[in-house]
Amino acid sequence: MRAKIAVLPGDGIGVEVVAWGAQVLQHVAAKYGHTFQVTEGSIGGIAIDTTGSPLPDASLEICRQADAILLGAVGGPKWDVGPPEARPEYGLLRLRKELRLYANLRPVKTFPALVDSSPLKREIVDGTDLLVLRELTGGLYFGRPRGRSVNKQGIRVKDTLTYTSGEMERIIRLGFDLARLRRKQLASVDKANVLASSGLWREIAEQVAAEYPDVEVEHILVDACAMHLINDPQRFDVLVTENMFGDILSDEASVLTGSLGMLPSASLGRGRRGLYEPVHGTAPDIVGQDKANPLAAILSAGMLLRHSLGLDREAAAVEGAVEDVLAAGFRTPDLARGATGERPVGTQAMGEAVLARIG
Ligand code: IPM
Ligand code: MG
Repeated sequence: MRAKIAVLPGDGIGVEVVAWGAQVLQHVAAKYGHTFQVTEGSIGGIAIDTTGSPLPDASLEICRQADAILLGAVGGPKWDVGPPEARPEYGLLRLRKELRLYANLRPVKTFPALVDSSPLKREIVDGTDLLVLRELTGGLYFGRPRGRSVNKQGIRVKDTLTYTSGEMERIIRLGFDLARLRRKQLASVDKANVLASSGLWREIAEQVAAEYPDVEVEHILVDACAMHLINDPQRFDVLVTENMFGDILSDEASVLTGSLGMLPSASLGRGRRGLYEPVHGTAPDIVGQDKANPLAAILSAGMLLRHSLGLDREAAAVEGAVEDVLAAGFRTPDLARGATGERPVGTQAMGEAVLARIG
């Protein structure tokens, strides 16, 4: 197969981990006889520094031309100034919006070898296998009007939470479809006891549920969900929720896997083209120290192979290689516990260990 892949490293450790995601893709291509043509583009703080925009037109165009996009992370203290539109994060939000990638899949699966790396007890996390399905192009992160105004009383700020019924229905429906491919359980997460938007969300979830009698549905309030996630994660299969709730719950859920450095994600729209990125951020505190865990980026490359290129066997090879390195004891600092049998490694050695085990 021939495929065009856009690589947007972004800022901070995004650059370090995406390099390994990209290497894994090239390694897979060589092993399985594919040709992946990679084009790099800038996004985030680095793009602001070099072009003045967090998402330069050239980068957006590279992404539009690509079959799939692999992205690192954006942001950093250097750019934490000015209005939201001038910040690195806006580049990522705009990219998702421009490409209409409304569905964000964040699988949270515990690796047997990492069960003791989680700060939670083994009996709680062991066997956890859930999918956070986050709506990605609506809600509070995109609603207008927004901003500040000043009057005699002081400063007033405004963000707007808007959704259409269509936007809600397509993500909820996808939640049911994905649940059907898994254990047929769907938790629809909202705040229907307070928010008008959540009231409609729940109505639509109930309507769609009637078409999926084989899927067991639970409507759960987001605050209770946050609690159950760390109390009893095994009760969850697919969790579907709106943009901000999904942002927050997916970071929380990452703790179950031992580290935020383990969580990949896929952002999908109607076609096959998708955006793949680790859930973690740019980790300014460890940049350039060979400490970043490249596994979330590598697993994101695996999701890219599966969801955008339809290469299931290759994706399984990548996931298998990650399992193998963990079973062999390789641990970046975020995963290390100092237990016997652990092999402390940096980004580079972890990446090489995965490459050596693919195929
Ligand atoms: C994420 C991140 C982004 C988001 C930021 C960087 C804009 O937190 O992908 O979870 O809020 O979606
Ligand atoms: Mg987030």
